[in-house]
Amino acid sequence: MTAPAATILYDTVRWEEKALSGAARRAGADVRMLDCRSLSLDVDGEARGYGTVLQRCVSYYRNVHSTAALEGMGARVINCLRTGMLAGNKLYTHMLLRKAGVAVPRATVSFSRDAALGAAGRLGYPCVIKPTVGSWGRMISRLSGAEAASGILEMREAMHPLYQVHYVEEFVKRPPRDIRAIVVGDRVVAAIYRHSDGWKTNMALGGRAEPCSVGAEMEDVCIRARDAVHGEIVGVDLMEDEARGLLVHEVNNTTEFKNTVRVCGVDIPSIMVSHALEAGRR
Ligand SMILES: Nc1ncnc2c1ncn2[C@@H]1O[C@H](COP(=O)(O)OP(=O)(O)OP(=O)(O)O)[C@@H](O)[C@H]1O
Ligand SMILES: [Mg+2]
Repeated sequence: MTAPAATILYDTVRWEEKALSGAARRAGADVRMLDCRSLSLDVDGEARGYGTVLQRCVSYYRNVHSTAALEGMGARVINCLRTGMLAGNKLYTHMLLRKAGVAVPRATVSFSRDAALGAAGRLGYPCVIKPTVGSWGRMISRLSGAEAASGILEMREAMHPLYQVHYVEEFVKRPPRDIRAIVVGDRVVAAIYRHSDGWKTNMALGGRAEPCSVGAEMEDVCIRARDAVHGEIVGVDLMEDEARGLLVHEVNNTTEFKNTVRVCGVDIPSIMVSHALEAGRR
């Protein structure tokens, strides 16, 4: 059997993975779907028979470990291990974005309940506490005041060590929406506003999407955010701060784009597949 030009590595088949596979079929490209749960790699060997690997695993741990193995064995993986590790963690991303001169929400990190209460007090209430690793708005809470914060921190202190790293951001004063911009290679291919009735605008929580036009400033911010985490195909999440303009609060290394395709009408799956095929030829 000849090696495919590319492999879509997944652990959950979302709309995105089906769309990527469909785009490959339409392009007549030999792209294979591979369930990460069926992988069993001899990591001291060479990666043969994958082509360019489009890393689409939802699980952070499967994602970075399968990337580490395949990339270490010589495969070209998009996004690379560095991006998976860096963008997969909101604190690491925050530090890198700052260093790259990308505006970000003010943030603190603390390692005990009392220290986190002090940090939240300094940031001012309301503020937002987030797991450093996670998505879909899960376990992200708005801390309305010291009493609510103390209760949430107490619960977190009893959880997995990940949740005992207390990453707290200022609550950004913005319109009731945020922005998701999809970057493929050197271009922002499309962007959406995400609106919702609640303060979290994630589509996974019932947010509504509408097209967002990409101006020169947004393009520049997104490309710098991509570079900060050494990314190639990423979803950049931005908020429009009343005073400071565009702030980046997250860079997604296995980005969802279903609603961006739906409301912008841009064929993002085809753009991603041709990027992967092109990367394999370089
Ligand atoms: N500092 C903040 N101030 C105000 N709103 C915020 C702040 N941080 C996040 N939000 C809101 O909460 C939502 C979820 O936050 P964030 O994107 O950081 O988490 P996530 O769960 O990793 O998201 P995703 O599903 O996009 O991966 C954002 O889309 C935004 O609407
Ligand atoms: Mg987000």
